[in-house]
Amino acid sequence: TKKMTRFDLQKMKQENQKAVWVTAYDYWTASFAEEAGMDMILVGDSLGMCIYGYSGTVPVTMDQCIWHSEAVRRGAPNTFIIGDMPFLSYQVSVPEAVRNAGRFHKEAGVDAIKLEGGVRVCPQIQAIADGGMLVMGHIGLTPQSSGQQGGFKAQGRTAEAARDLIADAKAIEAAGAFALLVEAVPPEVCGIIRNTLQIPVYSIGAGWEADGQLMICSDVLGIFQAFTPKFVKKYENLGAKTVTAFKQYVEDARGGQFPAEEHAYKMVDGELEKLKN
Ligand code: KIV
Ligand code: NA
Repeated sequence: TKKMTRFDLQKMKQENQKAVWVTAYDYWTASFAEEAGMDMILVGDSLGMCIYGYSGTVPVTMDQCIWHSEAVRRGAPNTFIIGDMPFLSYQVSVPEAVRNAGRFHKEAGVDAIKLEGGVRVCPQIQAIADGGMLVMGHIGLTPQSSGQQGGFKAQGRTAEAARDLIADAKAIEAAGAFALLVEAVPPEVCGIIRNTLQIPVYSIGAGWEADGQLMICSDVLGIFQAFTPKFVKKYENLGAKTVTAFKQYVEDARGGQFPAEEHAYKMVDGELEKLKN
């Protein structure tokens, strides 16, 4: 399959076709996502929770994001990959934001980057876009500023809060973003944003009135145990399956059922006799 471009994604919005994507953090998940026909892959800073076991995304560094993006790129060479800008990689200054966005492209070969926030990060969005890169906005629940939001909570549930989100969305489009991700807001609010903007508007936990859906791979597969947001649908329980497989291996190896004849290398004919003599 041919890799998506921004124009393909834009056309999908116009034609009312949903773009479907997941996060991936490593080579093998990325390769399976590509095989399954995902339209895009996000190397989310959610890797802090899903891979490193942090309780949030704030500790995640640029280097971690770059390394995981490199692995995902190798696993999914023909998929549109978005690198996620970690906390403090774009908040401090506009030049730092451009340099860090550029690192994702130079070192990991991503197709686009994503950063959190509305009006307050529009100078960064504009500067990165002016640097020739594709930027995706991210509003609603923004885990890097979850302290200000009072935790991992749904956003835009009052008319006033929804109006702020709509204003953020318009500002992000005007600043030059090629797409917008809306996280954990009511479907109606996401629908208004989607109908207001020309660029594609994607949902994670923001309902069906979007141009596409994102889910976290660890949630889809059932390998993230710490908590399950309301918006998650688990398609597998790989966590339980993994424990079962590991237990079976322990049992076999302890009981002498593994390794068996078929797992053993054979000596070259006649060599065992020579060794014994
Ligand atoms: O890091 C991530 O996976 C994300 C999604 C939760 C939107 O940004
Ligand atoms: Na993120």
